[in-house]
Amino acid sequence: MAPLNPLRVLTTAASFLLVSGHVQQETFRLPRIDLPHEIIRSWAQYTPAFPLQSYQIPESCSITQVNILQRHGARFPTTGATKRILAAISKLDNVLTFNDAKMAGLKNWTYELGSNDLIPFGEMQAFESGFEAFRRYSSLVSEEILPFVRASDGKRVVVSAENWINGFAEASGGIVNPAPPLLISESGNNTLDDKMCPNAGDPDSKTAVWQETFAPRIAQRLNAGAPGAKFTNADIPNLISLCAFDTLYKQEPSPWCYIFDKQDFEESEYFYDLDKYYGTGYGQPLGPVQGVGYINELLARLTGQPVSDETQTNRTLDSSPDTFPLHRTLYADFSHDNEMIAIYAAMGILKPSSPLELTDPDPDRTWLVSHLVPFASSLVTERLLCGGVQSIRILLNDGVVPLSICGAGSDGICTLKEFVKSQSYARNNGEGDWEKCFV
Ligand SMILES: *[C@@H]1O[C@H](CO)[C@@H](O)[C@H](O)[C@H]1NC(C)=O
Ligand SMILES: *[C@@H]1O[C@H](CO)[C@@H](O)[C@H](O)[C@H]1NC(C)=O
Ligand SMILES: *[C@@H]1O[C@H](CO)[C@@H](O)[C@H](O)[C@H]1NC(C)=O
Repeated sequence: MAPLNPLRVLTTAASFLLVSGHVQQETFRLPRIDLPHEIIRSWAQYTPAFPLQSYQIPESCSITQVNILQRHGARFPTTGATKRILAAISKLDNVLTFNDAKMAGLKNWTYELGSNDLIPFGEMQAFESGFEAFRRYSSLVSEEILPFVRASDGKRVVVSAENWINGFAEASGGIVNPAPPLLISESGNNTLDDKMCPNAGDPDSKTAVWQETFAPRIAQRLNAGAPGAKFTNADIPNLISLCAFDTLYKQEPSPWCYIFDKQDFEESEYFYDLDKYYGTGYGQPLGPVQGVGYINELLARLTGQPVSDETQTNRTLDSSPDTFPLHRTLYADFSHDNEMIAIYAAMGILKPSSPLELTDPDPDRTWLVSHLVPFASSLVTERLLCGGVQSIRILLNDGVVPLSICGAGSDGICTLKEFVKSQSYARNNGEGDWEKCFV
């Protein structure tokens, strides 16, 4: 099936919205994926974020500034993942007949994915979130007061930022037209990417333990259903990921989705939960420090003071009002999942109550990558004026983030002063961790 043309589809939906002024956007704005929600939720970082349409500023507060940090939309597998997927599916060539009726769909299935780039569904997600951002924050912008947009210069990130800008402009009826994104090189100092800490470890030894725990059962079943394939444990997460990649690209459920059951999907999700936790998250000694640069930029914007940072910031960019303007009302930054995880960990939010076990997933854990960094996920820091006091709250994919770090109650609101105080790890440039990236 040919992918839908995202702009055409969304323009139709947008017109509907502008005319009717309210209601049922959710059924209109992104194509439905015809699979059980619990399956889609288990795709980890390949789960698409669906913005909630309900949005309210807390009573007795007014909003004065918004900082959006957003992951690019849905994409093809990365180069590395593409190699691993192709290695796994080439084993199907050795299969003469399938013994398992659930695998019948594979007979006539072909691999049609590209690599690295955004897919049309991902463009729609970015457009949609720009559209929604205008709806929420139109009071902060005008023809002259424009959002300031930056993107890490990876192609999928840049195209996401561009689609977001288009969605924003479209929702404003063409009146508020943000400038093209400021691009930040992924080969230089960059607070929207995670490649600047050479000594940071990788999570592979951790995920390998879980892979050897959960995958043998599934490999054995697949090999019985597809004699001759000889899938290994390492093939399993890659084959399961095809359900997400193939479905989102073709915009219809992939035959790969029917080969695995709920337990398979949940166990594979844990593979990615571990991957992020021990990759740049709380489980990686040099993970959080890679989020410090962004937080120092955020603090600069929130307080209207110049950036103070000795980690990943580009000092040339951040010291010029053209490339790092203060006193704007709406900022949008486009980034990657691993960097966003580092930022959460540097900030001290969303921390699991205990480290993730390698062989024994806690079914009630809150560290779920599908929740933390799905495709097009966003972390939005809102500066509020509540009863005359400068305050903030943070939304992760539209849910209010509990901010115990600065003493927030159930409304998630902290005073700006307490929030700044809570960010001592960032304000102290990682308290010695940044130096450890190099020595
Ligand atoms: C197999 O796929 C081709 C190309 O998509 C299609 O034309 C054909 O009808 C399919 N055959 C079966 C048996 O599904
Ligand atoms: C900083 O940004 C400027 C402007 O984009 C660029 O020319 C320069 O190479 C960057 N420096 C580093 C170290 O990233
Ligand atoms: C890039 O970051 C490094 C490490 O913090 C720093 O030494 C260097 O001065 C930075 N360069 C620029 C242009 O900001």
